[in-house]
Amino acid sequence: MNILIGGAWPYANGSLHIGHLAALLPGDVLARYYRKKGEQVLYVSGSDCHGTPISVRARLEGVEPTVITNQYHEEFQTCFNKLGFSYDIYTRTDEEFHKEEVQGIIKKLYEAGYIYEKQIEQVYCERCEQFLPDRFVEGICPICGKVARGDQCDHCQSLLDPLELQEKRCKTCGHIPTVRETKQLYFALSTFEEKLRTYVEHHKENWRTNAVHVADRYINEGLQDRAITRDLPWGIEVPIPGYEDKKIYVWVDAVLGYLTASKKWAQEKEQDYRDFWNASTLSYYIHGKDNIPFHNIILPALLSGIGFKALPKRIISSEYMTIEGKKLSTSNNWAIWAKDLIGQYEPDVIRYSLLANGPEKRDADFSYRELITLNNADLVGAYGNLVNRTLAFLVKSYKGELQSCVVEEALERKIQGVYEKTGGYIENGEFKKALKEIFELIRWTNKYFDENRPWVMIKEDSNKCYETLYHCIYSIINIGNLLEPFLPFSSERLRKIVGVKEISWKPLSVPVGKIGAVDLLFKRLDKSES
Ligand code: MF3
Ligand code: ZN
Repeated sequence: MNILIGGAWPYANGSLHIGHLAALLPGDVLARYYRKKGEQVLYVSGSDCHGTPISVRARLEGVEPTVITNQYHEEFQTCFNKLGFSYDIYTRTDEEFHKEEVQGIIKKLYEAGYIYEKQIEQVYCERCEQFLPDRFVEGICPICGKVARGDQCDHCQSLLDPLELQEKRCKTCGHIPTVRETKQLYFALSTFEEKLRTYVEHHKENWRTNAVHVADRYINEGLQDRAITRDLPWGIEVPIPGYEDKKIYVWVDAVLGYLTASKKWAQEKEQDYRDFWNASTLSYYIHGKDNIPFHNIILPALLSGIGFKALPKRIISSEYMTIEGKKLSTSNNWAIWAKDLIGQYEPDVIRYSLLANGPEKRDADFSYRELITLNNADLVGAYGNLVNRTLAFLVKSYKGELQSCVVEEALERKIQGVYEKTGGYIENGEFKKALKEIFELIRWTNKYFDENRPWVMIKEDSNKCYETLYHCIYSIINIGNLLEPFLPFSSERLRKIVGVKEISWKPLSVPVGKIGAVDLLFKRLDKSES
């Protein structure tokens, strides 16, 4: 099977924080899992380099926007690498290939009649002497009555037109803006209403609840055509005459990145991108909940408009991560930055804490205390301890030699069962349940070790003692293998120690030979290290 995995493209105007990591990590688990299963995987993402905040910041700092996007793109790449994100391609939206592809798609949609010109009224600030970018208009959301930005209401997730806001203000200068005539290109989203209704009906059983709710609400409210050009200096140029001073709306540009990045990957690797963009491809889209409508409404409509049948199948949309119970906010400096975490903790510890305590179905709270507890209890106390005491025993009593031996059928079946269950959970986007299942096997194996008391048995019956140990090692090898999509670094180290070469999602057998030096997989962390 061919699996396309699209991780959301972070905005290249600020550092990554735990909110991003928690939302994006599931994509890497899926990619690693499916590769291990022997499927063809294409895992794509990149930096989202256009949009108002970047151009505003560039203007304030008196630099070209690319100075900012270069800086963050590099920072993102470093962070993702260090955390083991296994993207097949990580690109950016301000590079030539992407821009040309997007322009090609816009032209196609225009020629097909899905994009049309419309004379409209737009919010204009007399004091700033410009049409205001959507997110620079502030006012009251017409749907929920809370304060919202002109592009989207963070409170109720509605996509907005700034004209709809009540009590409008210019966010830059506080002036009450006026409304002026101009023209924009519109995407005929309403044309796709029936098609999208059917699409949502057919897919929603595989979506997270938050994605189903957003889709239902959009469709039931009736889909509105959307402006896809903006009065901005920074962005992709509009390939239609008469729009020289405008740019393509950043979200349209960004969501098309999944397709353009796939094409770029195919070009570089001499592959055919269509292998990952046909009706039988299984696609996963991984993002935070504020990204939902762009992935399950806008993107499917754009793709349908250019005749694609490969619409997003699975939507893995996370809830939010809070810190010490409070909503993350980069403007109020209430965030934990990825680069700080990476400087402090091993990548697998970070991955484990954000996956085992991930915001899958409801908001999850991050704290350093919790990270340390998870590390000490699960990684060190349960997993690391099992590996260490078993292998240390093998070294001490059997010179570290692994000889072939028979594995009890019951244990084989048990482990086979864990592969099946865990695999099912991962495919469903239920990563916490998957980890719980694997940790139950770890606890079970620890108990098995304790109950069989090899330290007593060794004096009575060395062969029988070896069998016990062998069972534990068989279990450990498979635990490492099961955990590999989640904790690739420690699993790799364990592989090296016990000499396991095979990579596949099925029970692995114990190799024969002398094991390597046993060093600790995880280190206990002191509460004061937070
Ligand atoms: N840049 C957006 C954000 O950080 C996500 C874009 S996802 C894409 O919320 F698919 F549109 F690229
Ligand atoms: Zn103003």
